[in-house]
Amino acid sequence: MNIDEIIRTRYTTKAYDEHRQITPQQQQQLLDLLRFSPSSVNSQPWHFFIAATPQAKAKIAPAFGEANAGKVLKSSMAVVFTTRTAITEAHLSHLLEKEQQDGRFNSDEAKAAQDKGRRYFVNLNSSSPEKQQDWMARQAYIALGFLLLGAASMGLNATPIEGFDAAKMNAILGLADQGLTSVVVATVGYSGEGDFNAALPKSRLGADEIITLL
Ligand SMILES: Cc1cc2nc3c(=O)[nH]c(=O)nc-3n(C[C@H](O)[C@H](O)[C@H](O)COP(=O)(O)O)c2cc1C
Repeated sequence: MNIDEIIRTRYTTKAYDEHRQITPQQQQQLLDLLRFSPSSVNSQPWHFFIAATPQAKAKIAPAFGEANAGKVLKSSMAVVFTTRTAITEAHLSHLLEKEQQDGRFNSDEAKAAQDKGRRYFVNLNSSSPEKQQDWMARQAYIALGFLLLGAASMGLNATPIEGFDAAKMNAILGLADQGLTSVVVATVGYSGEGDFNAALPKSRLGADEIITLL
């Protein structure tokens, strides 16, 4: 499929075929998509919880209403996107050291400049804990977009899910103790019976309404 076919045929899957599961290789590819997602100043303020076994899916299912719980239970894999509750000094140092290990700096000055630049943008988005949280959530949504497009390009079906109880999810996964909070969920697998959205035409506002060529 080329990119035009992918964007026109991908859609939000409303029901999955529980008898058709993705392969371990496909699962690994999806996890790589998450890991390689870009984030502002490479902040990677996230942690992805993967429910790919019946037990793990059943564990998180109570955080959803009936319709979305059905998707979680019958899909191959559910991803709970979480972000940190705060960007800590330890996280900033860890990022910098990892970038060094990965060969990003050819001098101490380059390393210091990266640290300074990152702190500048973190501070710019941290005038309150809520603003910082909102900024981190926006990074998580980039990973969500990556996953949705990537899954479609692999011929898989997916569902972005905001319809869940974040407080309940946080409690189920013990996120507060880990300095994390849940943001959004996505399921991936194969379309199944009752997936009414599969046959519906796509609806989008016209290009002339939402795009302005300057
Ligand atoms: C952030 C986000 C959250 C969403 N939450 C849900 C959800 O909880 N349940 C659901 O069935 N669809 C959910 N959707 C799907 C949207 O309704 C869908 O993307 C939109 O109608 C466009 O249709 P399409 O994805 O089929 O192209 C969500 C989509 C996004 C991007």
